[in-house]
Amino acid sequence: MIEVLNVHKSFGALEVLRGVSLNVAAGEVVVVLGPSGSGKSTLLRTINHLEKVNRGYITIDGDLIGYRRRGGKLHELKEREILKQRKDIGFVFQNFNLFPHLTALENVAEVAELADARHFLERVGLADKASAYPRQLSGGQQQRVAIARALATRPKVVLFDEPTSALDPELVGEVLDVLRDLARSGTTMVVVTHEIGFAREVADRIVFMDEGVIVEEGPPDQLLDHPVHERTRAFLSKVL
Ligand SMILES: Nc1ncnc2c1ncn2[C@@H]1O[C@H](COP(=O)(O)OP(=O)(O)OP(=O)(O)O)[C@@H](O)[C@H]1O
Ligand SMILES: [Mg+2]
Repeated sequence: MIEVLNVHKSFGALEVLRGVSLNVAAGEVVVVLGPSGSGKSTLLRTINHLEKVNRGYITIDGDLIGYRRRGGKLHELKEREILKQRKDIGFVFQNFNLFPHLTALENVAEVAELADARHFLERVGLADKASAYPRQLSGGQQQRVAIARALATRPKVVLFDEPTSALDPELVGEVLDVLRDLARSGTTMVVVTHEIGFAREVADRIVFMDEGVIVEEGPPDQLLDHPVHERTRAFLSKVL
């Protein structure tokens, strides 16, 4: 469903992604771990074409993201076409990114039909908060609205960038419950998180990134309990 092939990305002289390749099957849940600055957010942002890659390519369900191949060359898509592609790619940010002047329902209805907006608010357990404004919601509730919005375009994949790291500890659980439910129902997901317990329970595969490369990947038990690489071990010894 997601194919990332040999992606390189630099900001000025700093090469943040140094040849990343990652395939995610339909219905698979991949958790990305790695230290701060290793390129996790940048990887998610390139999948969504919020960042252009310098080399390599990304496809979602076979569609080249951000470009069209014509006469052996790649041409960047127009903004309108990119926006259309993004409907296939749900994105949930650390800081929710809700519109403060819109209600929960209106935030979701920004991207979808009203009936769908209601349906997905209900899906995240917030049917009763439809007319509340973000400031009237807890952080966990705001993030669930953001998840409903990410789902409302019926994307093929959903990307989560540290969806619980801005939350008070007691609110983390309700958001992870929603993610767990999505995973169980076959949603194709890539989740950047530091919630190791969640990763162990829900991930089909964990990918460990460091310094712009995927150092190691494998099923949770293998990667968390029997990491092969020294860098993976060093990271896990700090977070476990
Ligand atoms: N728009 C940008 N311009 C310049 N440098 C950037 C930009 N975005 C990211 N970087 C740099 O790229 C590197 C990787 O950043 P990225 O946000 O992908 O890391 P991360 O693994 O998500 O880290 P964290 O765990 O702290 O969120 C960092 O050194 C960061 O400062
Ligand atoms: Mg990040």
